[in-house]
Amino acid sequence: MTHSPHSDPAATVGELTTSSIVAAALASALRDGRADSPAEALRVDPARAAVLETLPGGAEGALNALWAERLPRANNIVSLLNQAAAAAAGATQTWSDLGDDVLVAQGRSSVLMARVLLSRIGPAYGFLDPGFPARVLDVGTGVGAIAAVLAESLPQVEVVGIDIADRPLEIARERLAADSGDLSARVRYRHQDVTDLDEPESYDVVWMPLPFLPDGIVDEALTRASAALRPAGLLVLGTQPEAEDRRITAAGAWLASLAGGGTLPASEVVRRLTRRGFSDVRRFDTVLGGPVLVGAVAPS
Ligand SMILES: C[S@@+](CC[C@H](N)C(=O)[O-])C[C@H]1O[C@@H](n2cnc3c(N)ncnc32)[C@H](O)[C@@H]1O
Repeated sequence: MTHSPHSDPAATVGELTTSSIVAAALASALRDGRADSPAEALRVDPARAAVLETLPGGAEGALNALWAERLPRANNIVSLLNQAAAAAAGATQTWSDLGDDVLVAQGRSSVLMARVLLSRIGPAYGFLDPGFPARVLDVGTGVGAIAAVLAESLPQVEVVGIDIADRPLEIARERLAADSGDLSARVRYRHQDVTDLDEPESYDVVWMPLPFLPDGIVDEALTRASAALRPAGLLVLGTQPEAEDRRITAAGAWLASLAGGGTLPASEVVRRLTRRGFSDVRRFDTVLGGPVLVGAVAPS
């Protein structure tokens, strides 16, 4: 797309809205239950395939590159499109008032964070081993997607999820009640603001998504979350990516501000953790343009 100041405004609007429809076609193809390969995803819907042919590298190239992680990738796109559509329609509510579809889509999108925790961050620090018991705190648990994936994947782990919003917690509890396994014995959801958390040295791992906390409460949230960790416990934070593209940074910050969330980039979060005496502070990329996770070991 060109950004010439002389572009026709009507053409620019057409270009922008078409880009979001191309993103929708990509998510739709990645999620398509009728297809078990990129070629099949193109074959089952020729009209959608024609949209995807306009992607750089062509339709099959784009699908091939994303296929291994197709569900989390698609869920991430759906969640962002949902938030963007709510913003476009003038949503002024808080995050939790956005409607069950938006909440559930965000929950699905955050499954990717749970996967990165399990497959890369846990092993990098020697935490979250399926063979060992551990207590995990999921701050901003929402509909409980991260809590549920962690508890399902780690049979000896107990997870406490806290949130300040009623509706996502209701959905999280309904899902827990519908589980036929032992999750309800190992997962608890609680209505609590992280800045009121007072559970010293109670958790081995604390997860906290900073893009959903206003910048003004981050320091207090870090103080409370750090105190809740046992000595040498693992803190993992979601942070905003540092995009070189001004549009990506501005767009992420706008959606975050509408959702009442924060804008601190990973580098600033790394600085704050280091100042607090955390060690082994490391960054883990997720998806392009998606959150950067920061892991750090609490002082012992
Ligand atoms: C978008 S959700 C994260 C998604 C979640 N992993 C899921 O499965 O749905 C972020 C959550 O943080 C919660 N939150 C915001 N400020 C908070 C605070 N001060 N303490 C606890 N939770 C908070 C919001 O209510 C929101 O539900």
